[in-house]
Amino acid sequence: MKIQVIEGNLAEHKTEAAVFVHFEGEALPVGAASLLDERWGRKIAEIIGLGDFKGKKNEIAVTYTQDNFPVKRIVIAGLGKRSDFSPDRVRGAFAKAAQHIRSIYVTDFSTSLPFDGLEMADESVAEGVVEGAVLGLYQYLPFKTVDRKDEQVISSFKIFIEKGDAKAVRAAVKRAEIISEAVNFARDLVSAPGNEMTPTDLANEAQASLKGKNISCSVLNETKMKELGMNALLGVARGSHQPPKMIVAEYRGGKKSDKPIVLVGKGITFDSGGISIKPSENMERMKTDMAGGAAVIATMRAASALLLPLNLIGIVPATENLPGGNAYKPGDILRSLSGQTIEVVNTDAEGRVILADALTYACRFNPAAIIDLATLTGACVVALGDEVIGMLGTDEGLKCQLRKAADLTGEKLWELPLGEQYDELIKSDVADYKNSGGRMGGASTAATFLGKFVGDSRWVHLDIAGPAWFEKARPYIPKGASGIGVRLLVQFLRDRATDKT
Ligand code: BES
Ligand code: MN
Ligand code: ZN
Repeated sequence: MKIQVIEGNLAEHKTEAAVFVHFEGEALPVGAASLLDERWGRKIAEIIGLGDFKGKKNEIAVTYTQDNFPVKRIVIAGLGKRSDFSPDRVRGAFAKAAQHIRSIYVTDFSTSLPFDGLEMADESVAEGVVEGAVLGLYQYLPFKTVDRKDEQVISSFKIFIEKGDAKAVRAAVKRAEIISEAVNFARDLVSAPGNEMTPTDLANEAQASLKGKNISCSVLNETKMKELGMNALLGVARGSHQPPKMIVAEYRGGKKSDKPIVLVGKGITFDSGGISIKPSENMERMKTDMAGGAAVIATMRAASALLLPLNLIGIVPATENLPGGNAYKPGDILRSLSGQTIEVVNTDAEGRVILADALTYACRFNPAAIIDLATLTGACVVALGDEVIGMLGTDEGLKCQLRKAADLTGEKLWELPLGEQYDELIKSDVADYKNSGGRMGGASTAATFLGKFVGDSRWVHLDIAGPAWFEKARPYIPKGASGIGVRLLVQFLRDRATDKT
């Protein structure tokens, strides 16, 4: 979909559909629409007056101008009540509008800024409009071969700007496109089936998408891992015929002396549970166990395209977790890269085992902060439901920044506890730690385990086991892979970059 920002009046241009927004319970639509509506014979006021359209959030109505106006259809999208307004409502309205437009076989649409009367800067509105449309229109189709003749694609979205700073709006639109496309890229990686997204495939995708002036991506292979002593990651990989890969991406946008932020993402391309095998029901979902890794790769891509003035390292340990004659077993003890030993009591608690080596490796970059993202525990989903990210970490400042970023992006995040009380649960009789503390406090014991491998780095862990995959569609998150974490991390990095300068 080509997105253009055009200085001028939407009323004077031909368009198949013009999208406007409206607050529930008000007489006139927001901003430009009321003026245009006057010229177009009060079509919008009419459907509002009739009560056919209330302006509830995610509500859509279409009306036809019929009288040879250059705009053929007016699509009006509800924002809900003004008192409940948040930027998420703009994203939702434009996602719903774009989806509706696609469903009626229309291939181009427009809108007009500014939305006078919204308590939001024009640039933020523009970002929301673009994010909503691009994220809401996402579909995963590479494996659909039949019934594709009805498939609809919107080719053009024009944003008219009547007054204000068009240059700033154009820049905001470009940013939003970069960020939304990164989210959709993460969704593609997560949606891909395990047989076509092996550790090697994931590493190839990372290398193909992370090259440019300030960014590079290298991949450590099995030989290199053995040499370094990454026996935790190698242990998990033993059950699979697919070789493990450690993806290491570097983006240098800051000063040479700036300590990097290190992002670490779990990259289990399929989690069968291994010898402690999972029940077969819903096991296919476990192709999504690399969603943290996908988010890290996509965030690196967005950061470099946005030319953020900071240094960034992305680390994704990637392997399958399968049972096999050579697979790691309950009772095995692995000597991790850090030198600390791990007793495997459950081969299905594999995420923390591979992350142990990845986090140790992260510390070698002398990081300003480490943030890891992982579909780590079912316990987190039990605690918070499947839409909320679990946040655990030792650094109050970082947690605060992430909370702020999540508020802006509409990704929901809630803190769960860490603390000495969990140490006992992961103590092993024969090794330094065991890889599972049992059912109680599962998200906290998992994070406590990770905390043993970050030294004294500032560190936060985000458990995305729930929201990595949406069973039910949300306005701008179609059912399936959500790309959760990408917008959150990019927002966090943008805030860091501005706070610094
Ligand atoms: N990948 C799973 C966690 C998961 C669960 C992700 C549901 C997405 C949806 C992880 O590797 C796992 O199996 N965790 C175990 C840990 C347990 C054995 C201590 C779990 O949560 O059951
Ligand atoms: Mn598992
Ligand atoms: Zn897993």
